[in-house]
Amino acid sequence: MPTVISLINLKGGVGKTTLTVAMAEFMAAEHGLRVLVVDLDPQTNATVSLIHEQEWRRRNMRGQTVLNVFLDHLSKYRIFSPQEAIIRKVSNIQGGIEGLDLLPSSIDLIEVHDEFLRASAALPVNPLHILGGALRESLPDYDIVLIDCPPDLGLICQNGLMISNYYIIPTIPDILSTYGIPQIVNRIERLKSETGIPIQPLGLVISKFREQSNTHKAQTPLLRLNAHRDGYQRVLETVIPEGTRAAAVMDSTLNFTSLHDKYGYDNPYRHYQSLTEEVLSYVRK
Ligand SMILES: Nc1ncnc2c1ncn2[C@@H]1O[C@H](COP(=O)(O)OP(=O)(O)O)[C@@H](O)[C@H]1O
Ligand SMILES: [Mg+2]
Repeated sequence: MPTVISLINLKGGVGKTTLTVAMAEFMAAEHGLRVLVVDLDPQTNATVSLIHEQEWRRRNMRGQTVLNVFLDHLSKYRIFSPQEAIIRKVSNIQGGIEGLDLLPSSIDLIEVHDEFLRASAALPVNPLHILGGALRESLPDYDIVLIDCPPDLGLICQNGLMISNYYIIPTIPDILSTYGIPQIVNRIERLKSETGIPIQPLGLVISKFREQSNTHKAQTPLLRLNAHRDGYQRVLETVIPEGTRAAAVMDSTLNFTSLHDKYGYDNPYRHYQSLTEEVLSYVRK
């Protein structure tokens, strides 16, 4: 079975999706791993940076997204096949990276979330196990699954946590971005004790770090110091600096010939490369 890692933060704009996509590409292209990205965020950013927006619209119209994993349980007739919704060989590098697959998201996940909460008491299945149930047959095909979680701790997000071995909290090292971290750790600990799932914190990833910022320079060592006390295990050694290239390459209409073509030779290439190696070193133990 694969190692499943959720990337989570209640704050948007911290680089969560960018890190999910980059790590997935590095794991597949440099390590030859079979990787599935599960996009649970209704903002669909991971989805539209890994496939063309037109392709996503087509699939969204046909109901081939993660939305239908959930919708299927609200209708009497089970017609959805999660296997068919998984898109093979995605990324804007070489028209797709062998071994990198995507379960795309849908904007309508926002609405289904509320509808689902209302209906969930009457459902024949435990509403926390819907994603896991839908992916049961697909999971053995992968070495790693990366889940881009929505910026909340609602039912859809919890479905992702239920199948995760680890979670990573990407954060900008400033006061606002780190504010919700104890809440995430505590909520996941509670879910863990209520359900017996094996999820563990893999650590915090410092992202969009600014060398010139006194706040960033002051907060980073503090976050490292408080890792055990605050229950997120560690801050990963690799720090992702803020840079224009990281932001520019997420557009799936662009075409790149290689990881270097997309991410350069220095920043952010070597940072994503070292972060990926670091993450793999923890999950392979
Ligand atoms: N290292 C970085 N340096 C500069 N901009 C970045 C970096 N990582 C992400 N961004 C940009 O910041 C914005 C938020 O990033 P994103 O990955 O979408 O965050 P989240 O998923 O946490 O909302 C996007 O416009 C993205 O392109
Ligand atoms: Mg995002």
